[in-house]
Amino acid sequence: MSPRHFLTLTDLTSDELKQLLSRAIELKKMHRDGTQYQPLKNRVMAMIFEKSSTRTRVSFEAGMAQFGGHALFLSPRDSQLGRGEPIEDSARVISSMVDVVMIRTFEHEKVARFAEYSSVPVINALTDDFHPCQLLADMQTYLEHRGSIQGKKVVWVGDGNNMCHSYMNAAHLLDFQLVVACPKGYEPNTELTAKYADRVTITQDVQAAATDADLIVTDVFASMGQEDEQDARLQDFDGFQVNKELMALAHDDALFMHCLPAHRGEEVTADVIDAADSVVWDEAENRLHAQKALLEFLLCS
Ligand code: CP
Ligand code: NVA
Repeated sequence: MSPRHFLTLTDLTSDELKQLLSRAIELKKMHRDGTQYQPLKNRVMAMIFEKSSTRTRVSFEAGMAQFGGHALFLSPRDSQLGRGEPIEDSARVISSMVDVVMIRTFEHEKVARFAEYSSVPVINALTDDFHPCQLLADMQTYLEHRGSIQGKKVVWVGDGNNMCHSYMNAAHLLDFQLVVACPKGYEPNTELTAKYADRVTITQDVQAAATDADLIVTDVFASMGQEDEQDARLQDFDGFQVNKELMALAHDDALFMHCLPAHRGEEVTADVIDAADSVVWDEAENRLHAQKALLEFLLCS
């Protein structure tokens, strides 16, 4: 039987996602209380990073250690992955020695191909197209601070990128309305937009989008791999900044989220992201708890 993978959020059913989020909250409490819980004793995770990371690496590595297991870091520079060994061969070999593999890379197709040849679960830790692990943390954070997100208005401001695509998947699974406010030419994937036409709308009018929002989310203008486009994007995204004036259009109890790293003064102002009641630090910490719930789901159920 082929293993269960987590390549996009929709690899989970709506019920599975909701259960996983509740479990993440429980695991967070257990961690805070100092309860030792080691369901992954002697289990090993391989972490393949072809792009940089702070949160993803630390959260997976710490999570595996807290669960009694071990995580090993593989970079293309120091392994045969960077010297052209076929993905299929790498997948067969690595998965024969470990219990779960986490991959951060460029093409989504690469993670999908690795999963096809892997004998153990594969987790997408960010591709050019999706970042499902971040959505687990974001949705946990909303649930903790405001309760169910069902029926709420969520506004994505900025690039129709990997994070935006994962928000589209979340809108489908958790039944919320998503408004994507992006400049012309930076719209999200058209197939996804058509698939979720019942709950995702695209606009260039940021002010109208933000009005009565329950959650406003943004991300950097230039993602990893798009560094050369930074200057052009700074111009193209003029007006697509989350600042106090934009937040004022949203509901009084609206939350702001950002997956981090952030560029203050570009996609978000410091007074929004560093506000006393900002939840971005909870959002970042929740990567740990949500991914522990994911590991438990993939390896112990
Ligand atoms: N949000 C996120 O994935 O952060 P890192 O790039 O630091 O892992
Ligand atoms: N969209 C960003 C997310 C970083 C966590 C990127 O892909 O670089």
